Amino acid sequence: MSKVISGFSRLDKSQKINWLAEHYFNDSDIAKSILKQYWNEDEKLQKLHDEFIENTITNYYLPLGIAPNFLINNSVYTIPMAIEESSVVAAASKAAKFWYDRGGFKTKVISTTKIGQVHFMYHGNHDHLVSFFKSVKPLLLKDAKPLTKNMEKRGGGILDIELRDKTNEINGYYQLHATFETKDAMGANFINSCLEQFANTFNTEAQKFDDFSETEKDIQIVMSILSNYVPECLVRAEVSCNVEDLTENENISPTEFANKFIQAVNIAEVEPYRAVTHNKGIMNGIDAVVLATGNDFRAVEAGVHAYAARNGKYSSLTHASVENGVFKFWIEIPLALGTVGGLTSLHPLVKLALEMLNKPSAEELMQIVAVAGLAQNFAALRSLTTTGIQQGHMKMHLMNILNQFEATDSEKNALVEHFKTNTVTHSAVVKAIENLRR
Ligand code: MEV
Repeated sequence: MSKVISGFSRLDKSQKINWLAEHYFNDSDIAKSILKQYWNEDEKLQKLHDEFIENTITNYYLPLGIAPNFLINNSVYTIPMAIEESSVVAAASKAAKFWYDRGGFKTKVISTTKIGQVHFMYHGNHDHLVSFFKSVKPLLLKDAKPLTKNMEKRGGGILDIELRDKTNEINGYYQLHATFETKDAMGANFINSCLEQFANTFNTEAQKFDDFSETEKDIQIVMSILSNYVPECLVRAEVSCNVEDLTENENISPTEFANKFIQAVNIAEVEPYRAVTHNKGIMNGIDAVVLATGNDFRAVEAGVHAYAARNGKYSSLTHASVENGVFKFWIEIPLALGTVGGLTSLHPLVKLALEMLNKPSAEELMQIVAVAGLAQNFAALRSLTTTGIQQGHMKMHLMNILNQFEATDSEKNALVEHFKTNTVTHSAVVKAIENLRR
């Protein structure tokens, strides 16, 4: 049976599901009933989700958890996290509590500039292009006015446009490199619309520029698009306390803990293999909040990892020190986030997530997200340098294994109790279930 189909997007939802079930599943009735089981009974809500993307067949659930007790700049937050990994929310909550008792997190936004580029090809005289750019720049800004008017009312807009010569890298390659302030919007649509307008004006005006020869007028716009690399949209989060307050457990002294912790951070600073895993742990916290608040986690991921490699070698996003008996642990990361526009006013759970965070501005959300990343990294390094990661991880994973075996509530209670004093491994859990059921 051919699996190629044309006009698929024009089929209605049931027809799409029927086609899929007939072509891909052994038991098409079971497949159909699973897909439909995840539909929302509220038709209006379901339609909303159907229309977020093309070819929706059902909903894909992720758990939405909350991590309370985050003290950030002396205010308490409960942070929403959408994530499937079992130990992440527990780790965030534990780190929040640990730092709640030690003064909490201190954060600040360092900068909020976003970037977009019109990439184009020009093979004429360089000076002619520079003088054309100078003469057309006011018009680039003027023609974009209808697009920027509202953003300007909110205090944002286009900050600058530069001509950048990239001909050393590709023959004839230049850019209009533009910077933007987008206030509480993530700004992707705003930036892309402005860039496309720049490209139009640039091309049209080139035809009229007297100093250009006929061939020089042939500027080829390759593309106009924002950059998800935002090293000038930076936020910092930090925790600190006296080393003697780093009481971890009875098996390790505060000084020993601080030293091991700093060694672990230093290793991630110099060793890319470790840095990637270290930063992955940070992104466990960051992505979960970014997703829960309806932001674009792919953009954040791409920008953060590029930043981690900004010095030519992939490195840790967090740093730690001890100076004069004070332990300090911090993160500085680029985050382009929005609290208006996009899904923020559409997805009911996103609205609740933002309300839970006291309807933050984009700058406030940047700080909360950075804290979630720092907390997650603290929790991971704390486990890694003391008990090892598997103890906590497998405890949380226990529930997944029990669910795989369809354990009843009373079986779950008994086995959770049992594994409070026994090491969780997959085989140990299987054996314990079997014993219990015997
Ligand atoms: C697992 O999701 C994340 C960790 O591997 C992070 C780390 O190693 O720092 C535990």
